[in-house]
This record gives sequence, C-alpha cells and structure tokens, in this order.
Amino acid sequence: MRTQIAIIGAGPAGMFLAHLLAAAGIDAVVLERRDRAYVEGRVRAGVLEQITVDLMDRLGLGQRMRREGLVHGGTNLAADGELFRVDMAELTGGSTVMVYGQQEVMKDLFDAAQPRGLSIVFDADEVALHDIDTDSPSVTFRQDGVERRLDCDFVIGCDGYHGVSRAAIPEGVLKTFERVYPFGWLGILADVPPCDHELIYSNHERGFALASMRSPTRSRYYIQCALDERIEDWSDDRFWDELCLRLGDEAASRVTRGPSFEKSIAPLRSFVTEPMRHGRLFLAGDAAHIVPPTGAKGMNLAVSDVIMLSEALTEYYGERSSAGIDGYSARALARVWKAERFSWWFTSLTHRFPDRDGFDRKMQVAELAYIRGSRAAQVTLAENYVGLPLV
Ligand code: APR
Ligand code: PHB
Repeated sequence: MRTQIAIIGAGPAGMFLAHLLAAAGIDAVVLERRDRAYVEGRVRAGVLEQITVDLMDRLGLGQRMRREGLVHGGTNLAADGELFRVDMAELTGGSTVMVYGQQEVMKDLFDAAQPRGLSIVFDADEVALHDIDTDSPSVTFRQDGVERRLDCDFVIGCDGYHGVSRAAIPEGVLKTFERVYPFGWLGILADVPPCDHELIYSNHERGFALASMRSPTRSRYYIQCALDERIEDWSDDRFWDELCLRLGDEAASRVTRGPSFEKSIAPLRSFVTEPMRHGRLFLAGDAAHIVPPTGAKGMNLAVSDVIMLSEALTEYYGERSSAGIDGYSARALARVWKAERFSWWFTSLTHRFPDRDGFDRKMQVAELAYIRGSRAAQVTLAENYVGLPLV
C-alpha cells in the first residue's frame, strides 16, 4: 500500500488531521490500534475553544454541535464557596467557548469519515515505524493477523502519550519537560441537571472541585483526590457530600443528586517533548504534550497542532516548499508552551497541594480575591480560557 501521509492514531489529533488533509486533496491513511467504539467511548473533557468550533464548521461538521452544544460566555471561580463570575465574552471582545463533549466530537468525525472516503484501519496491531530519517519512510502493522506495509512521504504520530511514534525517535534527540502533580481527579457523569448554567472551578480547603456538564440534563463533576484513592471507596453518596462541601453552600443548594453512570480517577501531568519532528516523522497532540485538565486545553491543543501541520503539508505539496514543515515544530511549540503555562497556573491556583503549607494557601486565596477585583487579571484569565490565537 502507498499513501502520502500515514497517520498513527484515530483520536482527536489523528481524525481532525485526516479530515483536514482530505479537504486539501492530500491522501492519508489512519492506523488505529483499537476499534471505533473504544475511541469514541473514552470520556474526556468537553470545552471547545473558538478555533475548534471554527474548525468543526470549516470541515462541515458543525451542524449537530451548533444544535446541541452549549455556548458559554463566562465561567465561575470560587474560594471557599464564595462564587464570582468571569464574563469571558465581555472581557475578550466577544469570544466564547462551546461545551460539547469530546465523545460527540469523535462521533461527528467518524460519522463523516466514510461518506468522505477517509481511509481508517481500526484494530491495527503492532504498528511500527521504519526509515523515518530517510525520504521514504514506511509503517508496518498487522490487520486480521496479516502483516501489512504502508509506504508514505510522511508519518504523523497522533498516537497519544503511550503511543509508538515518539518512542521511534532515537534516544538523545528529544528533550522532555515534565511535572507530575501529587493528586488526581475523581470524576463522575450523571443524568441530572447541572447546578449552574456555566462551569464552577472551586478552590476549597479540602481540595479542588469542578462543576461541569455535557448537556442541560447531564452533569460532569470532579473532585481532587489522592493518587492512591480507590474508586470502590467512593459511593455516589460520599462523592455528592464531598462535592457539595467543596462547592460551597450557594452552588451546593442547586446540586441535583442522582446515580452516576461513569466514575473514574485520572492523574494530572504537564509534559512537553521537543522538537515535535524528527526527519519525516511529525508529532501532534498528546504524543508530544500533555496538560493537566484544569482549563480543558488537551483536545484544543491537538487541534491547533494539526491545523498548523495541515497548512505546512498543503504548502509542501502545493508549492513544493519545505518552509512550512521546517517551521512546524517551533510554531506549534510556541502555542503549546503558552497553554502549558495556563494549565499549570490554573491548576496551581485551584488545587490543594499536600506538600505545601498555610502560606501557599493564603497566596491562592489572595490571588483569587485579586482576580475577583481586577479587570486586568480577569482579561488575562479570559483570553487564555477562550484560547490564544493561532500565530
Ligand atoms: N498504534 C496505533 N494507534 C495507537 C497506538 C499504536 N501503537 N497507540 C495509541 N494509539 C491510538 C489510541 O488508541 C488513541 O485512539 O492513538 C490514539 C491517541 O488518541 P488520544 O490519546 O486521544 O490523543 P490525541 O488525539 O492527541 O488527543 C488529544 O484528546 O483524548 C484527548 O486526552 C486527550 O486531551 C487530549 C486530546
Ligand atoms: C469536563 O467537562 O470534563 C471538563 C470541563 C472543564 C475542564 C476540565 C474538564 O477544565
């Protein structure tokens, strides 16, 4: 088999890229280790920046999002239960975010793939990259027990943090930067109305809590927990009690309790690897960088990577110019690091750090009070939250 672009991984990065390349008339094959139901079923964040909303529209995938997604012009912060609202739309000259779950985004990307003739191989086992530092790279994999080989011009590693692409880069080439946080997020989904029409990020002495949603009838709630916490120890009742304590009386009075149908614990990590290219292999999305979920930048960063990459590849094939692909890593990393900074800052502002003392907590509370009273501070938060421009 031969194609122009081999894409490893059919998560948001791989599937958005596959659609972008198809729209540009560039041939691509996506190799995904799991099946569609698995990729679509993973519960992840659901806040889309304007660039992601615009890309859904540009690709002709925005109809359902426009119908079912919730436009949020603001978000709420809380310190020990005292709520205040940051009016993002007013502070940024009209920018908003769209609450639309990653699962819905993936469904839209997959549903449109077949009618558009996108080539996706699910259940591709033992994916291996070859000759990425030559002009004729290839990828081998196993499909239904049969060994196959895909020759291509470029390989794009969209296979997440645990994928094979980053690992195919020779030792010593990449520099990685990492921060592992000493806590996780315990999250639930429940078919109950959300406690607010917007999100609430709450800093409480007992730890962080987040009130989010998927729709007017489906709530997504998180509480910070210890890394060794066991999910079996968290009955729904215990979760709701702890959540209500941390959100404070005002929001808690509006919390509707109900049975959860999903409950899981996720660790928090900041991670960046540089550069995002080696020879004919390019990395995009979680394969190159991870953010902690505070601020919901993960999928949006994957989107900005693949927009840049598709522009670079379009330039390469259309104008026979390598300028775009040569500049991809630096251009993508410039935006990645700003989102890393924001996600790290927002995490640091809102969580309880077990190894820190009362002074640090006073600093958090003072900073939240400062943000509450300062338009300048709110503009800074708002412009990062809605997403920095692509430059
Ligand atoms: N071969 C083929 N596919 C693989 C391999 C492999 N060896 N390893 C991983 N994959 C697939 C995974 O099964 C997954 O479907 O690559 C895909 C990677 O998807 P994500 O982990 O979602 O990464 P990305 O597309 O970069 O998503 C970025 O979306 O899912 C969120 O947390 C994620 O916020 C981040 C954002
Ligand atoms: C979510 O709804 O899952 C969500 C929302 C906002 C975040 C993180 C996760 O910052």
